[in-house]
Amino acid sequence: MRVCVIGTGYVGTVTAACFAHVGHDVVGLEQDPDKVAKLKAGELPFVEPDCATLLGDGLDAGRLRFTESYEDAIPESDVVFICVGTPLTETGDANVDALRDVVTNLAPLIGDRFKTIVTKSTVPVGSGDWITMLIEDAMSPSQVRMRNFGVVSNPEFLREGSAVADFLYPDRIVLGSSSQDALDQVALLYDTIVRQDFTDAHADLAPIPLIRTTLESAELIKYAANAFLATKISFINEIANICERIGGDIEQVAEGIGLDRRIGNAFLSAGIGWGGSCFRKDILALTRTAEEYGFTPTLLRSTVDVNEAQRLGVIRKLQDELKILKGKRIGLLGLSFKPDTDDLRDAPSLTLIERLDNAGCRVGVTDPVVTSLGEPFDGVVTFHTDVEDLADGVDALVLVTEWPEYRDLNLDKLAARMRTKVIIDGRNALDGDAIRRAGFRYVGVGRS
Ligand SMILES: NC(=O)c1ccc[n+]([C@@H]2O[C@H](COP(=O)([O-])OP(=O)(O)OC[C@H]3O[C@@H](n4cnc5c(N)ncnc54)[C@H](O)[C@@H]3O)[C@@H](O)[C@H]2O)c1
Repeated sequence: MRVCVIGTGYVGTVTAACFAHVGHDVVGLEQDPDKVAKLKAGELPFVEPDCATLLGDGLDAGRLRFTESYEDAIPESDVVFICVGTPLTETGDANVDALRDVVTNLAPLIGDRFKTIVTKSTVPVGSGDWITMLIEDAMSPSQVRMRNFGVVSNPEFLREGSAVADFLYPDRIVLGSSSQDALDQVALLYDTIVRQDFTDAHADLAPIPLIRTTLESAELIKYAANAFLATKISFINEIANICERIGGDIEQVAEGIGLDRRIGNAFLSAGIGWGGSCFRKDILALTRTAEEYGFTPTLLRSTVDVNEAQRLGVIRKLQDELKILKGKRIGLLGLSFKPDTDDLRDAPSLTLIERLDNAGCRVGVTDPVVTSLGEPFDGVVTFHTDVEDLADGVDALVLVTEWPEYRDLNLDKLAARMRTKVIIDGRNALDGDAIRRAGFRYVGVGRS
């Protein structure tokens, strides 16, 4: 099938490269000329395991290309995926400016051949009907009567850091629409993935579940999934806070409850809280939608509040260990919101830098892939290329992102360089006993 993917950021590039990988002809349409130039040259504009390989393969095979032109991309495509950003506004709503822009640009180019317009971006509930209206506005009455397009909601559940695997081997595919033709067309597009037909490795697996539902339910499934995952982490962090006060060990508590199949052990790691581009914005957008309809979603609000407080727990632990924070030097291990990505959107590291700077600390940072933070952090942090350099003269090191390279620290070398031997493990990823034996103060999350 001929596929167009609009917005080649994290989601769009992975979508384009994976659909090309399973045999479709794909054109990526992007407004940023720098991104287009990089992608045409086979360079990824971000860090994501395996994606560069698929990008290169698709370009070499002639199944994947990139353009800035709607006229070049839309008329020839059967299915058009919208993957532009829907960031948070100051009111907590999803900003749909890019979505509106895309739809008004593509609508006049739909032509006579049936096209399916698919939202992969996370869009407010009701967006499918709104997109239909915007497209009809750009059409003549006879074109509207021809009904030569359909709108499908196909929310994306990939995780940065394992996005390619998540796309090719998903837990489920969700398609929502009021148009049977459009649903059938997108289901056909996914058929190779549903049947895992593109690889021998997964040939013996059962087909991937494909859920067909309404537009609203599909849109809501995405918000509900993110809200649930974030709530699970906020829940275990709340239990971790209770552990810290009464002397329990959250690792053992999490194992003990996670073995219950009704609960499951995924997303039960206590730490400094969730971050990333999606959880906060999606929970706040869902909250806004509920409030517009006269309902106050108390649990969703608490999920966000618990997470914000959890990040600041690191500051409290530093105060406990160091007492006066003014004039202290703190080193942060990791900046990206999680390992295997360079994404800094809503990263806990940024909250910590801001709070520590306000508290009068000097903040040093290191990260395997993030090498600058830009405004407003220029001049606020000092970058170091390795952990030992970062440790020089600091009063405490804080593990913020559990990159594998930080799991096995050279404690003797760190001890020789740090001014005060304090390690705050914001991810419970370090060997606390070994660190204590090496003469450090070690403070994890929910570990008494
Ligand atoms: N990042 C994730 O892990 C993830 C996972 C699931 C769903 N989502 C959702 O997917 C959507 C995209 O997220 P992302 O992280 O890929 O965002 P992103 O900011 O990385 O990418 C968006 C891209 O769209 C481009 N764009 C914006 N307006 C455009 C226009 N008018 N025409 C062409 N291109 C345009 C931007 O230049 C950018 O390259 C969001 O709604 C997000 O909530 C993201």
